[in-house]
Amino acid sequence: MSRGRFITFEGGEGSGKSTQVRRLAAALTERGIAVEVTREPGGTQGAEMIRALLVSGATGRWDAETETLLHVAARRDHVEKIIRPALARGTWVVCDRFIDSTVAYQGGGHGIALETIHQLHALMVPDIAPDLTVVLDVPLDVGLERAGSRADTENRYEQMARAFHERVNGTFRAIAEREPERCRLVDATRTEEAVAATVWRTVETSLLEPGRERAAQ
Ligand SMILES: Nc1ncnc2c1ncn2[C@@H]1O[C@H](COP(=O)(O)OP(=O)(O)OP(=O)(O)O)[C@@H](O)[C@H]1O
Ligand SMILES: [Mg+2]
Repeated sequence: MSRGRFITFEGGEGSGKSTQVRRLAAALTERGIAVEVTREPGGTQGAEMIRALLVSGATGRWDAETETLLHVAARRDHVEKIIRPALARGTWVVCDRFIDSTVAYQGGGHGIALETIHQLHALMVPDIAPDLTVVLDVPLDVGLERAGSRADTENRYEQMARAFHERVNGTFRAIAEREPERCRLVDATRTEEAVAATVWRTVETSLLEPGRERAAQ
């Protein structure tokens, strides 16, 4: 059996990640592909508990270093218990946020050295990388407006300064430019349907084309 494919969605607040994760998972399921839908921080019982510590409460609840470590701890638990086993049994994994969010928020946003983030990741979450990362791009005001219109208590990051979110969004764009093989930057200001169509075309071209399927087996 061939290994499952690992697809991550990244982007700032309210860019439409959770919406597009659901749509892509439905499209893959319709095609007969087994899919595990999951999210970060979270995805396991323990990592969801860490999520609650990260996404709620006062913005100053953690310093940048502790926040980084909590994300890495949650990711390790998630990768070991959910993502690796799913990929090994041939199930595709569609994940709402992954390492690029740590680079964007803790690196770009808070100024943690990228080398530190990459070292922690290499030590604690070795030998795993997304086959495809969709980076959803919307202007800050559009994203914050969309995110703000939802009623939820998971708003610790949302409440951080505007300049913080500008750096986060800029870092996501820089990641997509730096790694064009893995990443696809998608204009997410369009309708949900239009964004989903672009995402599906990308998945078809990069992961489902017969030539590539054979080459991966
Ligand atoms: N293309 C779109 N056009 C307009 N509204 C959208 C679009 N995609 C999603 N939305 C709406 O915007 C809000 C935020 O979308 P969603 O929760 O998918 O974003 P997100 O990137 O997961 O946000 P967060 O970073 O806060 O988790 C939701 O109310 C959703 O219905
Ligand atoms: Mg979301």
